Amino acid sequence: MNFKDKIRVIPDYPQPGIKFKDITTLLKDGKMFKVAIDQLVERFKDHEIDVIVGPEARGFVVGTPMSYAMEIGFVPVRKPGKLPSETVEAKYSLEYGKDSLAIHKDAIEPGQRVLIADDLLATGGTIAATLDLIKQLGGIPVGAAFMIELSYLNGRDQLEGIDVFSLVQY
Ligand code: PRP
Repeated sequence: MNFKDKIRVIPDYPQPGIKFKDITTLLKDGKMFKVAIDQLVERFKDHEIDVIVGPEARGFVVGTPMSYAMEIGFVPVRKPGKLPSETVEAKYSLEYGKDSLAIHKDAIEPGQRVLIADDLLATGGTIAATLDLIKQLGGIPVGAAFMIELSYLNGRDQLEGIDVFSLVQY
């Protein structure tokens, strides 16, 4: 059984033409979920990462277990209005839509080495905004870990100079 066998592909969701990659079918298989997280951790364990940053909501599902396993902190990136303390913001465009993301101003110390974690790299808009936030705080983006990469959307182009790794490519 490989990861692709566990990822459900739903045509025309959330709009016509999009083939949605549904990871809930992978997550509910505890053994496969653990293997997935273990492989991402293994790939980045020697990169001297200080903190993991994950965008809501599915970035939390990937980033927090990695953070727990690596014994380093986790920083949430959220839609504006959700974080209670002072924030900085960055705009981004999605595969289908536009939005902004926010991070707490004191979430990352200048010079800290940061790993980004998310379930999916599509156009790279979310990750470009996340990178922008990390840089605004003086963090050093070192790597980016994904369960899934939609290679045909070239999201990697947004991540030049960063070590990008995905478990599964479409
Ligand atoms: C999805 C996915 C990634 C992003 C990838 O999140 O979890 O974060 O889109 O697309 P991109 O590379 O084109 O930016 P979404 O914004 O749907 O939020 P959710 O996790 O809260 O559902």
